[in-house]
Amino acid sequence: MSAIQPPSKRIWWKEPLDRVELAWIAIALVWALILFFMMPYWHVFGKQNLSNEAYRISAENFQKKTQEMVEKFTVRTETDQNIPVVHPPAGSDIYMLGRLWAWYPILELEKDKSYRLHLSAMDYQHGFSLQPTNINLQVLPGYEMVVTVTPNKEGSYSVVCNEYCGIGHHTMIGRLYVK
Ligand code: CUA
Repeated sequence: MSAIQPPSKRIWWKEPLDRVELAWIAIALVWALILFFMMPYWHVFGKQNLSNEAYRISAENFQKKTQEMVEKFTVRTETDQNIPVVHPPAGSDIYMLGRLWAWYPILELEKDKSYRLHLSAMDYQHGFSLQPTNINLQVLPGYEMVVTVTPNKEGSYSVVCNEYCGIGHHTMIGRLYVK
């Protein structure tokens, strides 16, 4: 049977299952099951799937919490827009919000200390992608995503938005320092 000519038999699909076809169905099924069980396995033993919690929160409320942290722990400002650099105490709850088209504020964390990182969006969906690590989180308005983070490498990290959020999407870059 060719793909160009119509099939010679009109009811062409009513055939007994060929052994080869059955073998491929079995292979595909087994492979799908392997991948299915690898998901929880990777979550526990892999490095890229973060355990997170999500809670409902209004944009105003999240902004208020972020602002409280900024007012308490800002150590300096950076860039032309005077974005506050916040150095919160180790072990505390820290906040970063995404909005058109910026991440706010800049966080400065201490190496090998744990924090509860809260993320939320003020307007549309954004993506929190921490470069150059392999960390990606969806940031949604109306929800806060909470992740326990323990930065283990000093450096200056970029937060890139990886969900298309409009004309300024490519300029939506934040910063995170680990000292
Ligand atoms: Cu925010 Cu793309």
